Amino acid sequence: MNFAIRPTLHGYDTVAAFAQALEIGPRDLIFTQRILHDSFMQDLSAQPMFYDDYCAGEPSDLAVDAMLGHVRGLQFDRLIAIGGGSILDSAKVLALDSDLDVASLFKPDVQPGRRAELVLVPTTCGTGCEVTCVSVFDFPAIGTKIGKAFDAGFADKAVLVDEFMARIPYPVFATSSADALVHALEIYLAPKATAYTDMFCLSAIRAILEGYIRIVEEGLETIVQDARRYLIASNMAGIALANILAGGVHAIAMHFGSKHHVPHGEATRLFLPPVFEIYHEKAPDGKIADIANLIVEVLGKRAAGQSPFGALDALLAQVVPTKRLSDYGMKADEMAHYAERVVETQQRLLVNCYVPLSNDDIARVYRQLF
Ligand SMILES: [Fe+2]
Repeated sequence: MNFAIRPTLHGYDTVAAFAQALEIGPRDLIFTQRILHDSFMQDLSAQPMFYDDYCAGEPSDLAVDAMLGHVRGLQFDRLIAIGGGSILDSAKVLALDSDLDVASLFKPDVQPGRRAELVLVPTTCGTGCEVTCVSVFDFPAIGTKIGKAFDAGFADKAVLVDEFMARIPYPVFATSSADALVHALEIYLAPKATAYTDMFCLSAIRAILEGYIRIVEEGLETIVQDARRYLIASNMAGIALANILAGGVHAIAMHFGSKHHVPHGEATRLFLPPVFEIYHEKAPDGKIADIANLIVEVLGKRAAGQSPFGALDALLAQVVPTKRLSDYGMKADEMAHYAERVVETQQRLLVNCYVPLSNDDIARVYRQLF
């Protein structure tokens, strides 16, 4: 068994307190979104670089190549990335000491060192990628997203700043927090899970579900009130993810999300209930029973009269709405082919399934959601 928490963790209430504590100055490169810079960082003397100058959505290999072309001409001692998973994942590659393009960097056994100190600051509460060494990019030429773990991708510091959550757009909150929930649920069930990952996963699952119930019962203003809770929950799920990869839900979502341009957290939330129903059918007495019991306990009367995963789906539908697969653009005759592509391209995730998913299982998931 191995377990590690790599970057040191730091938390601040405000952006000003964060900037003061890190003594941010002209030898720092801040890589962020223009709107975040304009809202919170205009007074800082650091050099800015804006993700939105290169990419509108989730990063493709070619967009990150363009970022690399720019960053390799800059002088800086520290790269401070502030943003969602797309920005933090890109920053891990921008901080590498290499002249290679992304396609070459993603080849097996390519592991450059780092050219500068790396600080990762999440402004969403989902990917937990501030504590992982993995970068996930879309490769449109081969029609899927691919993740790669870089040894030098672990940051020196991961910093949680509550104030950034005050401006989070609701759809970003919904999909990112749902992704954190899926990380925690999948890793709890992974065959390689340990007592340490279990502890982080269970805490994250409980915190996010309790937060969702507060949203449904008390309103959207609870998101800002619970900012620290969500940031820590997604960070805890990220700590688990840094040690054990996610499983079948992510495998199916990575392919579908790339194919139909569905935000990552929306895609993982979409496929969670049917995959977990299959797990529950195949091995109801294993660790999935703990998850079922936790859902029933936290959801209370909301879980009455339905299966635990049906109740979970009903709660998620109120917080993170999704569409039918046909409404995302999938055709009925594509199910078998999609299942084959998932099995072909996502083995690194499929090996972490609670119980193995066959092509037929994956096709059944599509049928259920179609
Ligand atoms: Fe994820």
